[in-house]
Amino acid sequence: MNLEVKIVEVGPRDGLQNETRSLSLADKERLVAGLVDAGLTEIEAGSFVSPKAVPQMADSGPLLERLPRPAGVRYRALVPNRRGMEAALAAKVDEVAIFASASETFSQRNINCSIAESFARFAPIMEMAGAEGLPVRGYLSCAFGCPYEGAVDIRAVASVTAMLLEAGCYEVAVSDTIGIGTPGDVRRMLADLLTDVPAAKIALHLHDTRGQALANVLAGLDAGVTVFDSSVGGLGGCPYAPGATGNLATEELVFMLEGLGVRTGIDIHKLAVAGEGISRALGRRTSSKVAAAMRAA
Ligand code: HMG
Ligand code: MG
Repeated sequence: MNLEVKIVEVGPRDGLQNETRSLSLADKERLVAGLVDAGLTEIEAGSFVSPKAVPQMADSGPLLERLPRPAGVRYRALVPNRRGMEAALAAKVDEVAIFASASETFSQRNINCSIAESFARFAPIMEMAGAEGLPVRGYLSCAFGCPYEGAVDIRAVASVTAMLLEAGCYEVAVSDTIGIGTPGDVRRMLADLLTDVPAAKIALHLHDTRGQALANVLAGLDAGVTVFDSSVGGLGGCPYAPGATGNLATEELVFMLEGLGVRTGIDIHKLAVAGEGISRALGRRTSSKVAAAMRAA
């Protein structure tokens, strides 16, 4: 398949934000170094949110300060408001992401404000990013379902996606927060969304709660999407999405893409080692089937 696919590694952020076992800075640094060594270039390394809300991300500033900065590697971070943006700029991130929701209840639970209010908070972020020439990505949570409201109207997905793009995001990561979408849902959603938005502006951020993520990537590829988020070892979850498990494992994504003939530039052995390392630090086995099979081989 003659296709360029971008993998956004969200393990150090989405993967670790929900963990109860706290990790040392050295553990996190080792994880990111392992990911870089494996060939990942787009890495979401942290999050500048309230440390009371998400204590696991409280050391994002010190972590970013310690990380190596090899050419071609870009570190990203989540920012919810002006204060987060100031901290992200001080940490010299290469890119930030704002995060909105297609569900009002999730917006309230996650960031303590309505969808409309969240955009008022994003406005100064967009201004500051513009002044610094920093790209801003937008996340759209609950695109396939909400842990509080259940089904989410496809029109809400289209309208909040449009709001993120109009605000100045270069791309919207349409997110299956609770891992409930099937390839049929992805097909229908993208058929709707891509009538107004070019595929180049859409990424898929898929949690793998029900084992649909890889099939959903394939449905996304069929529709023309070429940017996918994943998390080494299948780590991940959101503290405000009860029951949601990890993201699609990066090992699974790389294995499938390479099988399709897409060159990822990622050394899957080194990737699996990074996944094993962080899983060990967390006191558990990797959730990646590919990594487990490689260990057994
Ligand atoms: P708020 O209560 O509306 O805001 O929280 P506030 O301005 O009143 O601040 C409350 C407290 O937080 C204050 O501290 C502020 O100083 C502090 P206190 O006076 O109580 O001691 N504060 C901050 N501290 C550090 N950095 C900041 C910051 N802002 C305020 N930037 C807020 C609003 C968004 C801050 C809060 O609700 C929050 O931090 N929520 C965490 C949200 C979060 O990180 N969720 C997980 C990530 S999203 C996700 O996982 C989904 C995604 O993966 C896609 C998908 O799968 O769907 C992206
Ligand atoms: Mg997520």
